Amino acid sequence: MHTLHDIEHDMQSRPRTWLVTGCAGFIGSNLTEYLLRHDQTVVGLDNLSTGHLRNLDDVRDLVSAEQWRRFRFIRGDTRDRGACRHAMAGVDKVLHQAALGSVPRSIDDPIATNDTNVNGFLNVLVAARDAAVESFVYAASSSTYGDHPGLPKVEAQIGRPLSPYAVSKYVNELYADVFARCYGFGTVGLRYFNVFGKRQDPAGAYAAVIPKWIGAMLAGHQVLIHGDGQTSRDFCFVDNVVQANMLASHAAAGPASRIYNVALGDVTTLTQLFGYLKELLTVNGVAVCQQAEHTAARAGDIACSQANIDKAMRELGYVPRYRIREGLAATVPWYVERSRTAIAPAAHYATAG
Ligand SMILES: NC(=O)c1ccc[n+]([C@@H]2O[C@H](COP(=O)([O-])OP(=O)(O)OC[C@H]3O[C@@H](n4cnc5c(N)ncnc54)[C@H](O)[C@@H]3O)[C@@H](O)[C@H]2O)c1
Repeated sequence: MHTLHDIEHDMQSRPRTWLVTGCAGFIGSNLTEYLLRHDQTVVGLDNLSTGHLRNLDDVRDLVSAEQWRRFRFIRGDTRDRGACRHAMAGVDKVLHQAALGSVPRSIDDPIATNDTNVNGFLNVLVAARDAAVESFVYAASSSTYGDHPGLPKVEAQIGRPLSPYAVSKYVNELYADVFARCYGFGTVGLRYFNVFGKRQDPAGAYAAVIPKWIGAMLAGHQVLIHGDGQTSRDFCFVDNVVQANMLASHAAAGPASRIYNVALGDVTTLTQLFGYLKELLTVNGVAVCQQAEHTAARAGDIACSQANIDKAMRELGYVPRYRIREGLAATVPWYVERSRTAIAPAAHYATAG
């Protein structure tokens, strides 16, 4: 089993070419930033449906000019098989993040979710198999636990999916499993739980709670809490997710499909989260509305979600470095800074495929 330190050493001595799908999104742009900082070559595939070029501009500003030259952006769609084949040329390792996130979005438009999350996934998987890449790691989801009542969630015990999004993410795991059986193509699926961090989109009807609340508080609006505030989640800082992707990419390869929870293994209630954000925004010089407004709980929202992360710790050597408060303390200043500075015009990227 490798440590992150071993992996970083290996990456420096033997740089690889990585494909990050969804590179202009939240998690994809954080993965891209990490890889470029470690002098890797990165091909990024994104159709900019929910991601933004400004996320890539942000990455460009955080890496050296030489590191940035190792990045190639392809504006393309995973639903297009040709684009997937084109993006896969010369790639050693794949981190597949492109998907339409959000349970409510999938309930509003199950066809769009299926097209990208199932058909797009299969296209990327086939292209990766045909290119015989060294490793294939993909974003799975805690939504796969569905209506299983057990807590904390262990990988082997899942229930029935509760949304089209959950179906799509579960189908990814089924395809990954069948590709190991039928073609000997090994994969690792990481079931992310409520990830947060810089560059997560605060806008739109389908925004996640942390960026949405930070955005509301920065605009001087009152935060809206669905339910009594005791709903709890296993919020996980994005740097922990980057670490898990690196460990999974370097785990002993083999013709198997493996699944791991990626989370903190801890829970935070919405009331606690609101308290942390108020405190951190105040420390960062933002005058915030101290009271939240409570509305009825949202239909379909589960009361508690918590991961058991023993399997990832045991088999991948995953140890989340950031607890919730540390992650929020690293996240909030980025949003504050961004709200104070005008967004620079998008850089020009070579597009193809
Ligand atoms: N953020 C979370 O808490 C969370 C939790 C569980 C799973 N996930 C999964 O992690 C992955 C990344 O999520 P995120 O939070 O960064 O979302 P995001 O919306 O910020 O990023 C997704 C990216 O994929 C791109 N994309 C969407 N459809 C595409 C297509 N057809 N072709 C090419 N690009 C496409 C989008 O433009 C966007 O840049 C997704 O697979 C998501 O389902 C996220």
